[in-house]
Amino acid sequence: MNQPHIWWYITRASALIAWALMTFSVVWGILLSTRIMRRIDNPGWLRDLHSYLGGLTLIMVGLHMVTLMLDQWLKFSIGEVLVPFVTDFKALPVALGILAFYVLLAVQGSSLLIARLPRKFWKGVHYASYATLILVALHAGWTGTDVGSLWYKIVAITLIGGATAAVVIRVLTRSRTGRAPTAKAWTHKSGTIPAVAPAVAGAPLLPATRTMVVASTSMAADAVMAIRLVPLGGTTGGGAGTGALPVWYPGAHITLSLPNGLQRQYSLCGDPAERDHFDIAVLKTRHSEGGSEFIHANLTPGMTLEVSGPLNHFELEPASEYLFVAGGIGITPIKAMIESLPERRQWRLIYAGRSRTTMAFLGELEKRYPDRITVHASDEQDAELDIASLVVDMHAQVYCCGPESLMSSTAALVPPEQMHLERFVAVERTSDVAAQPIDVTCRKSKKEFVVGADQSILEAMEANGIPVLGSCRKGVCGTCEVRIVEGEPVHLDSVMPDDEKDSLRVMYPCVSRAVGKELVLDI
Ligand code: FES
Repeated sequence: MNQPHIWWYITRASALIAWALMTFSVVWGILLSTRIMRRIDNPGWLRDLHSYLGGLTLIMVGLHMVTLMLDQWLKFSIGEVLVPFVTDFKALPVALGILAFYVLLAVQGSSLLIARLPRKFWKGVHYASYATLILVALHAGWTGTDVGSLWYKIVAITLIGGATAAVVIRVLTRSRTGRAPTAKAWTHKSGTIPAVAPAVAGAPLLPATRTMVVASTSMAADAVMAIRLVPLGGTTGGGAGTGALPVWYPGAHITLSLPNGLQRQYSLCGDPAERDHFDIAVLKTRHSEGGSEFIHANLTPGMTLEVSGPLNHFELEPASEYLFVAGGIGITPIKAMIESLPERRQWRLIYAGRSRTTMAFLGELEKRYPDRITVHASDEQDAELDIASLVVDMHAQVYCCGPESLMSSTAALVPPEQMHLERFVAVERTSDVAAQPIDVTCRKSKKEFVVGADQSILEAMEANGIPVLGSCRKGVCGTCEVRIVEGEPVHLDSVMPDDEKDSLRVMYPCVSRAVGKELVLDI
């Protein structure tokens, strides 16, 4: 360490390593947020790697700054290292580097405090990572003493090129899909195409439909039938994880077309990593409209069913901590979420039901996660479930599925940015806008038509040959989702929060209307 140039070498090396690590971290983060990496089963460790790269970057930047002060030639003071424009040596480029350091500090700090910060704020700070890429590239290109050498040029071009490519991919996937992609396989009239296809197809797309066989049925609780479906003809590729079924993510549901003509949606409740079957659980409802009753009375192993999807409007977003609240059969999407989480992710489950015998998968979950589950069986308790005491001072992302009373009471206690709900039944919604005819243009189909005041937009689309798929027709399943090009919708569905739909520019034409008289749809 007494060598006169040792600090000089270390400061150059640490700067380059920091630049490379930061670029890898940002590229990794971008890929994680695109469909490319989301196809991987369990992204928990991948997200951790993203954080570790960011942390290592900060350590390398710190080393770079310290060794700048130790170097005998530059002799930076602490002020020159920490305060922009204090140094006489290349003041502007050095200032850009210092600025990049502070932005990086903010990004890393906000990630450490992610559980305590409003999600939108954290996201806003995190997007500043893009700014650090630009600042660091300018700083490195302007102040780097190796700038003229061939190897430095190759390194710089690789890092800047890699980062630019990742940003372009991010922008393209965002603008084409309008949202972070979900696990969907899709079918056009000509057949099934892979999940990446909708972004480029530019044509109306419907969720994939396949014929599946009931492999097994069993009772998961009183009146709850667990059903395993496998593709007709089996999977290709040799077993779990390599089967022919599409990739899906927790929160996804499939639509069963029943022989009695009804279509019903059921959440997938198995392990998303197992690709050779779909697991669902069906509650026989007391006032069945024919769906659950038919399933309980008629479904037997060997029967075939048309199954479409999966679709997902209840995606599990990355978070360091989760609280799951399930009521009765609402456990199904929650179980898949739990299955998908890495061992050390923090989560708790509040599971409520009428009695233990009616609560599907309860024994299995309690056995596997004895310390993480709070059970509230009404027949064992005198008091009502006290959600308020369970969510006090809580910073976790909350995922809730179950009866409307449970969901609305939970939602009333949790800040909206932490709350995620999935509804099985439509919430009654009314519009302030009087029902009126709407001029609808379907841009890609090049068709224009008028939707009568007493007709749904979906019905009019079907009547005009627009290839849109409707299933529940109550604004619950999300199957009929279309993107809006022009016009303002009146959302009357229960699929997701209105602000999310507005940011994605989507609507559900089976129930939703328009504020004005015109609507242009991207279909
Ligand atoms: S058909 Fe289910 S939301 Fe429109």
